[in-house]
Amino acid sequence: MNPETTLAITPLRRDLHFPLPPEFLRSWHPLGAHVSLFFAALSIFFPDGERMFIHAVRLQRERLKSPELKRQVAGFVGQEAIHGREHEAYNQLLEEAGLPARALAATVATQMRQVRERLRPAAQLALTIALEHWTAIMADVLLRDSRLLAGAHPEYAAIWRWHALEETEHKAVAFDVYREVFGSGGAAYRLRILVYLLVSISFWSRVLYFHLRMVIADGRLLDLFGWWRMFRFLWLSPGILRRTLPAWLSYFRPGFHPWQHDNRHLLAGIGSLSDRYARADSGLPIVNAT
Ligand SMILES: [Fe+2]
Ligand SMILES: [Fe+2]
Repeated sequence: MNPETTLAITPLRRDLHFPLPPEFLRSWHPLGAHVSLFFAALSIFFPDGERMFIHAVRLQRERLKSPELKRQVAGFVGQEAIHGREHEAYNQLLEEAGLPARALAATVATQMRQVRERLRPAAQLALTIALEHWTAIMADVLLRDSRLLAGAHPEYAAIWRWHALEETEHKAVAFDVYREVFGSGGAAYRLRILVYLLVSISFWSRVLYFHLRMVIADGRLLDLFGWWRMFRFLWLSPGILRRTLPAWLSYFRPGFHPWQHDNRHLLAGIGSLSDRYARADSGLPIVNAT
């Protein structure tokens, strides 16, 4: 695909709700508590992280010229807002189960506030597109390989599939905003790559720390078999992190664009998920963001 082109995919805001049974918080994944809590560690980041993404994109809204991109931004904002709401509910269940979700989420909130106060808008958006790339490449592995959620509790599998589907659907929106406002020349490229490197280190070190805190709180620090199963899940088979490496490297190309990796066929399952989990009181299963 020509680096100057993008796919005209407008994300839809879907008002879905996932009734997660709390008794399976630690055991919804067939590989056990360590893997279930790894996903929980990711969930801690979403509400405040995604609010920051919305903020960073909205800062540029007045500078956008393309009506199509403005519509995509509205869809992006709508999707991330619902993700935040559903992951806040997920995190509340973690807290009620005795895991330190609130304390860890508070550190994310503090960090995101510092990002808003201290970074210039271009850097805030560079941070957003770096993390959007990370979520998109993990989503791609999750949707592509049915082994990742095989045997998982259906409601937990559904929330993670839904989030992965919508992250795929809107994966280029923030990137296109960055490119339209700041271009793809030397300075914009250097900022994009510098922030990406910093984010890749700091995000994953914090995910691992959050995971460790939850495993300790759950009394499973010395469960070596649990650690081994998690290591195997991440790095060997199915190896979710190992398999993101080529896509992680692709971001360094000066002409990179998220839709150069055209995986829109993975979005096929989104309709049935929308029908099944539409909020009973939302009126419509699918609503365009305004
Ligand atoms: Fe999201
Ligand atoms: Fe996203």
